[in-house]
Amino acid sequence: MVVWCGLLAVVAFPLSDDQLSAVGIGVENLRLQWRFRFSARSSSPNFDRSIPGQPGISARDPSGTLVIYPAASHVAWATADRARCGRCARIAQSSFGSVTPGIICASENVASVSIPGVIRNITTNRPIQKREKKVDKKALNWSELGFDYIETDVRFRAVWASGEWGEGELINSAEMLIHEGSPVLHYAQTCFEGLKAQTAPNGDILLFRPDLNCARMASTTARLLMPGVPESLFMQGVLETVRANAAWVPPYGSGASLYIRPFLVGVGKNLGLRPAPNYEFRVFVSPVGPYYKGGGLSLIDLAVIDLDRAAPKGTGAYKAGANYAGGLLATQMAKDLGAQEALYLDPAEHRYLEEAGSANIVLVMKDGSVVTPKSESILPSITRRSVMTLAAQTLGRTVEERPIDFFAEVDQIDEFAACGTAAVISPVSKIRVGDTWHKFYGDGKEIGPVTQALYDRLTAIQKGETEDTFGWTEVVPI
Ligand SMILES: Cc1ncc(COP(=O)(O)O)c(C=O)c1O
Repeated sequence: MVVWCGLLAVVAFPLSDDQLSAVGIGVENLRLQWRFRFSARSSSPNFDRSIPGQPGISARDPSGTLVIYPAASHVAWATADRARCGRCARIAQSSFGSVTPGIICASENVASVSIPGVIRNITTNRPIQKREKKVDKKALNWSELGFDYIETDVRFRAVWASGEWGEGELINSAEMLIHEGSPVLHYAQTCFEGLKAQTAPNGDILLFRPDLNCARMASTTARLLMPGVPESLFMQGVLETVRANAAWVPPYGSGASLYIRPFLVGVGKNLGLRPAPNYEFRVFVSPVGPYYKGGGLSLIDLAVIDLDRAAPKGTGAYKAGANYAGGLLATQMAKDLGAQEALYLDPAEHRYLEEAGSANIVLVMKDGSVVTPKSESILPSITRRSVMTLAAQTLGRTVEERPIDFFAEVDQIDEFAACGTAAVISPVSKIRVGDTWHKFYGDGKEIGPVTQALYDRLTAIQKGETEDTFGWTEVVPI
């Protein structure tokens, strides 16, 4: 049954050319009056508009075509895919070029559209509900948090059985009851993702490039012969878990964030080496502080250990749990040498830089270029990809992804940094190889200016302190 909450969009004021050019081809805060409806079964947004050819928006169905009129003369289109959080649909394709598509989202009396590069925000002329809804935060000492598990109120769970996904749900228990024969317990048939939610100055809760976590999980599940988690289910899990735990999202300015851990395990009665009969997808969250002790942007040390993390055609490029069990000893050995983390060289020749135990590597060379290792056995870090884009497009640096022969090139390295969701960007002071410590910027005592600039730019986008011209952040509807 379709429940009408009203439907009809009326343009309150069309934008002038001046307003359009102020944000390039973008439109800022185009105000519309909406009436919209939800299907009682899918709760998915179903927009319509009343004045063709004028600034506005039209979508008959999330699986249909969304027509956007940033201006009378500019007609763009986008195709929205399946409903995501129940009231959201992701725009899967658009005529706006290769920019990351946006999201259409509706809640009881709010509809908003954000299409990076074209339309920043379309809001109703009514107050935005999420700003009014005050969330009473938990009484935590946010600025003292480390990177540790803190149990929050709810988590998300969806089960794959008989070849299909069931409906996901929020649950209270942090425990999992699984069969003793479950392949996750014996053959490590498990994978996970990690991303963060941060509070912006205006109170919005922002995710950073969750679509890339979803895509990476899809590549991992294919490698581990696990069923793919559909993007709609992945995003439903992430958005619902964050929204339901909004009280646990650290406030703006606290230096902490909400770590989000989606994961998938193979479960069920089994003995032989084969894929699991059933799977469970879960998402939990935990408020966290900095990954490395010291906090914020502080120098760390790495140590090259005589152990490999991955094989050339193994699972190093995937976020498989087994990679991490194999790395525990190397991390422990690195810590015994006084470093925070192990640094891996390539498993074939032990010459080329790979990555750290939980972070990729970015180097600033003495010629000013920004270089990152190219390898088939490292995890494609979302932070590293973002940092390389910032280095090229914001700092105007020459960037390159290529094999880096550590011993041949170490003298050419000016700044050495580790980067990842947990590590953010951590400048590396020195690296131990054998009995030698190799020092970097400022004799290992200072943070390099490019590392600092990249950290500032990246974290300002992640925290909503600056305009996100790349369309990397996504607001969690509260
Ligand atoms: C082995 C490894 N490399 C790199 C990263 C950084 O990846 P991302 O930036 O996507 O968090 C991580 C953390 O997720 C990791 O575990």
